[in-house]
Amino acid sequence: MDLALRGRRAVVTGGSLGIGRAIAGELAGEGVSVAILARDAARLEAAARDIAAETGARVIPIPADLSTAAAVEQAAEQAVAALGGVDILVNNAGATPMGRIGDTADATWAKSIELKLMGYARLARALTPGMRERRWGRVVNIIGRSGHQPRANYIVGSSVNASLLAFTHALAQECAPDNVLVTGVNPGPIRTPRWDSLTAQGAADTGRSAEAENNAAIEGVALRRLGTPEEVAGLVAFLCSDRAAYITGTMIDVDGGGTRCI
Ligand SMILES: NC(=O)c1ccc[n+]([C@@H]2O[C@H](COP(=O)([O-])OP(=O)(O)OC[C@H]3O[C@@H](n4cnc5c(N)ncnc54)[C@H](OP(=O)(O)O)[C@@H]3O)[C@@H](O)[C@H]2O)c1
Repeated sequence: MDLALRGRRAVVTGGSLGIGRAIAGELAGEGVSVAILARDAARLEAAARDIAAETGARVIPIPADLSTAAAVEQAAEQAVAALGGVDILVNNAGATPMGRIGDTADATWAKSIELKLMGYARLARALTPGMRERRWGRVVNIIGRSGHQPRANYIVGSSVNASLLAFTHALAQECAPDNVLVTGVNPGPIRTPRWDSLTAQGAADTGRSAEAENNAAIEGVALRRLGTPEEVAGLVAFLCSDRAAYITGTMIDVDGGGTRCI
């Protein structure tokens, strides 16, 4: 299937690791020029070098802590200047820890809201006007199934993700008249560095081993295994393409059949 993405320009947040790294690689493989954003500059530069070598695409590392308004604004300006405009925004950077209501301080709520909810909103606010002017654009928000299947031991992540489901719908309505399509992708358990760290936090909460935590997570997945970042990235590339030109305001689970609702 030709996704006809060659020549498009994308920003992928959290593009140095895990799901974001796979999405950046997938888009670059389709001939998209990609700016990847994350905090650790050395890791980001290494990822950019590797993706460029693997795909031949232009990959630009922009180090930024996306949990402050000033840094988001500056990173968006840098991306627009470096790429000559941005057609695709993949909001993916998130780092919400596990935790129950009683052991979650205000600072943890604030940090997660600033990075994942406000970070996604601020980047969309900065980059969608250019897309709307050119009457072509895509925003894909990587959210998480806890937004519609909340978990007591992941209360901040569940709350932020539920907000992002609403945000995705609202932004889709706003941007549809200008052919800027906005979708959400809800990964289930995907094996990434973040998955391993959440599993360790979950193990500390339940007193089980990390392996037992992993097995419990797999038990809830119809396909009986963890997913891979590449299995999320393939869907994102499709949603960015003109093959998905009639899909907006939609949330799609990539979770091996783990979410059981109609
Ligand atoms: N893995 C799963 O099973 C799963 C399930 C549901 C939802 N998700 C969602 O999918 C997204 C990606 O998860 P992942 O598992 O791929 O995570 P990951 O392996 O931890 O990668 C996270 C990426 O985000 C960057 N990042 C973290 N904090 C940042 C900040 N303050 N500013 C800028 N960049 C930042 C990291 O780089 P630096 O640390 O260098 O900044 C890294 O590139 C997250 O939003 C997560 O909630 C994941």
